[in-house]
Amino acid sequence: MKTVLITGANAGIGLQTAKYFLEKGHQVFLCDLQETINSELKESSATYYSCDVTDSVSLNNMFSSIFNRGVILEILINNAGILGPRVKAEAYPVSDFDKVINVNVKGVFMCLQAAVNHFIENKIKGSIVNVASVAGLVGMHSHIAYSTSKHAVIGMTKSAAVEYAKTGIRINAACPGFTDTNMLSETTDETYRETLKYATPMKRFGRTEEIAKAIYFLASEDSTFVTGHALAIDGGLIAQ
Ligand code: NAI
Repeated sequence: MKTVLITGANAGIGLQTAKYFLEKGHQVFLCDLQETINSELKESSATYYSCDVTDSVSLNNMFSSIFNRGVILEILINNAGILGPRVKAEAYPVSDFDKVINVNVKGVFMCLQAAVNHFIENKIKGSIVNVASVAGLVGMHSHIAYSTSKHAVIGMTKSAAVEYAKTGIRINAACPGFTDTNMLSETTDETYRETLKYATPMKRFGRTEEIAKAIYFLASEDSTFVTGHALAIDGGLIAQ
């Protein structure tokens, strides 16, 4: 049994990943913006924190609360992220650019830093999975801030992996393709959804279960010689 913290765990990929870790019998800590845990996990053994990953005070409170229980954290799933508006670069609002970078890059970095410090202090060969995107491997039309942020997450992953490889701490990135979550359904119309599906060689969206299993692999003892890797889970999207 491992202890794991998953950010952005009240919906989509984070929620499914939480369910998968719980199913496998791990001790699970979750955080998200909402006051309370997703109702689907209310009866579970998971411990929930209402926490904005861009807010250093809120983050410190969460990490202190976990560590003050005497918990030794072994895995961090850095999943919280936002897409931002679908606008071409020439008109992309700078305020939205800031928001996307703040959550997707600074939030991920602050969680990674807290976890790495904890692993070092406790001599833990911990594992971090940063949830990036295929938009971190190739460009994404009309989502310049998102694609910039996810390329940054992959750079962060590689740099941190190289820095800590000797200590046994592993840091990898999971790069989902288009996956059927609120992030897709709330921000896109049906025609756009069909276009995204058509662009994917498997001609369908990814299922959150498929992404959760790949995240689990990168986090687990099944990938002990893998670090600094960006794993595409994308139905062949970037193989084209
Ligand atoms: P979602 O929108 O369904 O869920 C994201 C969760 O993160 C929400 O519960 C939200 O409240 C939380 N969150 C947002 N900002 C936060 C903050 N500042 N602090 C704490 N929690 C916060 O999104 P989805 O699709 O599950 O995405 C999860 C991750 O997967 C994101 O990093 C996203 O960029 C990435 N991803 C998603 C893809 C997709 O097609 N759905 C494709 C590639 C990557």
